[in-house]
Amino acid sequence: MKILIIGGSGGIGQALIEHCLSAYDDVTIYATYHSTPPAVQNEHIVWFKTDVSAEQDVMALAQHVPHLNMLINTVGALHQPDKRPEKSINEFDPVFFQNNLNANALPTLLLSKHFANHLKGKHQTYFVAFSARIGSIEDNRIGGWISYRCSKAALNMAIKTISIEWKIKQPRCCIIAFHPGTTDTQLSKPFQKNVPTDKLFTPDYVAQCLLNVLTKITPAETGKFYSYSGDEIPW
Ligand SMILES: NC(=O)c1ccc[n+]([C@@H]2O[C@H](COP(=O)([O-])OP(=O)(O)OC[C@H]3O[C@@H](n4cnc5c(N)ncnc54)[C@H](OP(=O)(O)O)[C@@H]3O)[C@@H](O)[C@H]2O)c1
Repeated sequence: MKILIIGGSGGIGQALIEHCLSAYDDVTIYATYHSTPPAVQNEHIVWFKTDVSAEQDVMALAQHVPHLNMLINTVGALHQPDKRPEKSINEFDPVFFQNNLNANALPTLLLSKHFANHLKGKHQTYFVAFSARIGSIEDNRIGGWISYRCSKAALNMAIKTISIEWKIKQPRCCIIAFHPGTTDTQLSKPFQKNVPTDKLFTPDYVAQCLLNVLTKITPAETGKFYSYSGDEIPW
């Protein structure tokens, strides 16, 4: 089993590495980090320092990683040291918007372009992108957080569009978007105050939820948006 985890230095990425190591036999994990040095080291993990919003880095990564069973992209950003998500359109900042697109949408487009061949073959393979329910247009009832919302909506459209192309070109690959729920990581830290305890998940729980979803889906489910609960979310 060969698995590529993009963003292995993040809260959910680290938990996924640990879950994949215990869930699968004879597993090799290829994992990326960007600015945070890896916390887990082990003979089954091969680390790459990669900026997945830069095409040259993604191309170099593709050359060093073999054929895969799974690619899971956990990279994402919601806030910066000096910038919180917008409460209203008056706070919109083009640079912050561009940073959101670079972290939340662009990497999945580059990864699907350069890793399509790694996921082709006779066996079922998976391409998973971590999205967020907030990127669902149909589910948007409260507004706000414009840059993050738009970037995750762009990611969702990318997944849906690529799934249509891959149904023909690589019909055994399941490509899905995944919503982890509010999870206790650096990304959600500034926004956890009003989250009920039972709605703030551990990265460990979320990693297990994703692996549960992956055991249930087949290529017939490609192009869908799943919640941690296993339910489908409208695009
Ligand atoms: N936590 C939540 O409540 C929540 C809710 C809904 C959706 N999500 C989504 O779940 C995913 C995982 O989030 P998390 O909670 O684990 O966040 P996190 O702990 O903040 O981790 C974010 C990861 O993204 C990486 N990253 C950011 N920009 C990058 C770039 N340009 N190139 C390469 N790596 C980059 C970081 O790498 P370095 O640290 O090495 O720079 C880190 O590994 C994200 O897509 C997020 O949007 C999270």
